[in-house]
Amino acid sequence: MSKMTHILKTQNLNVSYGAIQALKNVDITVKEGSITAILGANGGGKSTLLKTISGIVKAESGTIEFFTKNITKQAPEITTKEGIIHVPEGRQIFGDLTVNENLMIGAFTVKKGLTRIDSIEPSVITPDIASRIKQASSETVDSIIMTRKEIIQNNLAKVYGYFPVLHERKSQIAQSLSGGEQQMLAIGRALMGTPKLLILDEPSLGLAPLIVKNIFQILTQLNQKGISILIVEQNALQTLKIADYAYVIQVGKIIKHGKAKDLISDPELIEAYLGK
Ligand SMILES: Nc1ncnc2c1ncn2[C@@H]1O[C@H](COP(=O)(O)OP(=O)(O)O)[C@@H](O)[C@H]1O
Ligand SMILES: [Mg+2]
Repeated sequence: MSKMTHILKTQNLNVSYGAIQALKNVDITVKEGSITAILGANGGGKSTLLKTISGIVKAESGTIEFFTKNITKQAPEITTKEGIIHVPEGRQIFGDLTVNENLMIGAFTVKKGLTRIDSIEPSVITPDIASRIKQASSETVDSIIMTRKEIIQNNLAKVYGYFPVLHERKSQIAQSLSGGEQQMLAIGRALMGTPKLLILDEPSLGLAPLIVKNIFQILTQLNQKGISILIVEQNALQTLKIADYAYVIQVGKIIKHGKAKDLISDPELIEAYLGK
């Protein structure tokens, strides 16, 4: 049943920058556990939509719900803490900090809390954690309390598991990474904050097809681990291949939406975005 619940829903969302109306009555729903895509050309309002969801840009009218909570006017720090984590356009990593330092910045919102036992990486299980797991198992409980430090260690182990190249380069300064590695770092930094909904702004921008394929495969894996994903892209074809559902936005309006597997063979969409 959980797949029927929305993790995010916008209704009648309007956003303006002075005289420019960037979003016009935008309604989107992200089902819990899904990969949902927003496709469209440059200037369509994709980045504005993500910034409004994460609270960086304020809506003029309309509502944004995260599960059942109205977050329309919520400060971005709170939204991040609650689990909507934004990987911004152009990565925005700190070039003069190391890979590891960039990742630690993503962990700033982490606090002590319940962690599912099946989400704990074997490599971070200390004797102390092991005894808590043993205790929980004897009570048939599936989670244990972990300290902030333990959760950060666990998230770091996961990030380095998904992106071994970041582990190899953990002490290098971030500006020495390739574009693809910098995108991995931006995603890794978001994962450090234990996202429930990961929102990504054009992760494929400027990257070679093989790198894009690699990054999209990892997004699929993250989704299979239970993270809902909202991705904004101009690269419609590749994105539809990993998405469950997609919306097409044009000059601030949703002009089409449907299941990704239907849109991928939609003649209009093929002509506008997919054909070459
Ligand atoms: N900070 C801003 N100030 C004024 N206009 C902006 C600003 N950011 C975006 N816009 C305008 O809003 C529209 C949507 O932009 P954006 O959300 O960046 O689209 P996309 O991400 O799809 O390329 C464009 O017309 C853009 O010029
Ligand atoms: Mg944009």
